[in-house]
Amino acid sequence: MPKYLAGPGGVAQGELTVPGDKSISHRSLMLGGIAEGVTDITGFLAGEDCLSTLRALQAMGVRIERPQEHHVIVHGVGVHGLKAASKPLDMGNAGTAMRLSMGLLAPQGFNSTLVGDESLMSRPMERAATPLRLMGANIATQNGRPPVEIRGTPLQGIDYKLPVASAQVKSAVLLAGLQAKGRTSVTEPAPTRDHTERMLRAFGVEISQHGATASIEGGQILRATPIQVPADFSSAAFFMVAGVLAAEKPLLLRNVGVNPTRTGLLTLLQQMGADIRLHPRGDAKEPIADIEIRKSRLRGITVSEDLVPLSIDEFPVFFIAAACAEGETRVTGAEELRVKETDRLAAMADGLTALGVENKLQPDGLWIRGGSGFQGGTVDSRGDHRIAMSFAVASLRAKGEIEILDVANVATSFPGFVELSRSAGLHIQTG
Ligand code: S3P
Repeated sequence: MPKYLAGPGGVAQGELTVPGDKSISHRSLMLGGIAEGVTDITGFLAGEDCLSTLRALQAMGVRIERPQEHHVIVHGVGVHGLKAASKPLDMGNAGTAMRLSMGLLAPQGFNSTLVGDESLMSRPMERAATPLRLMGANIATQNGRPPVEIRGTPLQGIDYKLPVASAQVKSAVLLAGLQAKGRTSVTEPAPTRDHTERMLRAFGVEISQHGATASIEGGQILRATPIQVPADFSSAAFFMVAGVLAAEKPLLLRNVGVNPTRTGLLTLLQQMGADIRLHPRGDAKEPIADIEIRKSRLRGITVSEDLVPLSIDEFPVFFIAAACAEGETRVTGAEELRVKETDRLAAMADGLTALGVENKLQPDGLWIRGGSGFQGGTVDSRGDHRIAMSFAVASLRAKGEIEILDVANVATSFPGFVELSRSAGLHIQTG
């Protein structure tokens, strides 16, 4: 199994461009696939997760060209033009691919089976199946987990209150609602990423927003539109923390998507005392900015629970920042972290303990006593890309080498992570 060896003494500085946004890349393929016309996607994330979505659409008859690695051309077949795949659709490690596909495929005129890798096959799918069944969908899971068996059938619009703040479930309901009879409304308990709503509008779909409720009328068509995918804030997050810990000169991250439903980590780091500034670069379909980071002294904070959904994927690297902050940092209300690619609370608590950082695992969070740095040691990423990259960042404040196990899945979201990290000044090798 591939691993990283991350040595102490590195820096994080210069100008970097991280790869394209994963959430937006998945959605651009799906909406492009069911649009009328040709969708030209630039800045596409060529990570394994998005390639799973790409292959699934191809298996359902969508022609997709890739003139360059990050340039994808999708020949849309219209909402009713998808065809049954000849075998189960393999979504790899990608929860977004699977849950959004459930909403996309439940109302289609054919049956589908969705499978994935070992991690995805153990993740909860009833959260998406439940509202879709209320719309009339015929979906079976195995004890709540994949394989997901879908018998395509016409759906009715519903009013649904999400029990958990999940953009994947919200998006699945909206994609089903787009194809259902009547109106579908989905209300979220707290704001989550709104890329689906924004992109549907860009494809000419009317979707209204009243407070926490998004509503869509079924039977609308999508018109192809060019999509420029910004750099992924969730990938930029590793370098934001790296820069705060070890930028001897300022670090600049270029053209990052700064949709306010994604930037909770920026607020959290600023509350800790980090010097991070945004330089806005435009706000067409999604807001974009350059992010400038300077090395800063951090102090521990208690994280406000309303910021949790806005920084949900950034907690692994936030915990590294917390370990370097003076005093205690407390995170609660984050039980969703237990059902990501791995149980991220447990994986981070174990890794921090292995590196000598005092912490206390909670059912819904983690408390960390920071300020004493990391010892060298071995941590297990448990095959989770974000855990692996977070401990690579920890090396910037470590007293010895950190060996990080099971890192192959970094390729799901951040191809080229090692090369880019080295170019910024981190001491990291693959082994
Ligand atoms: C995503 C939503 C979030 C996030 C995931 C991507 C999306 O998941 O953690 O990485 O693209 O909609 P949940 O909906 O489970 O919170």
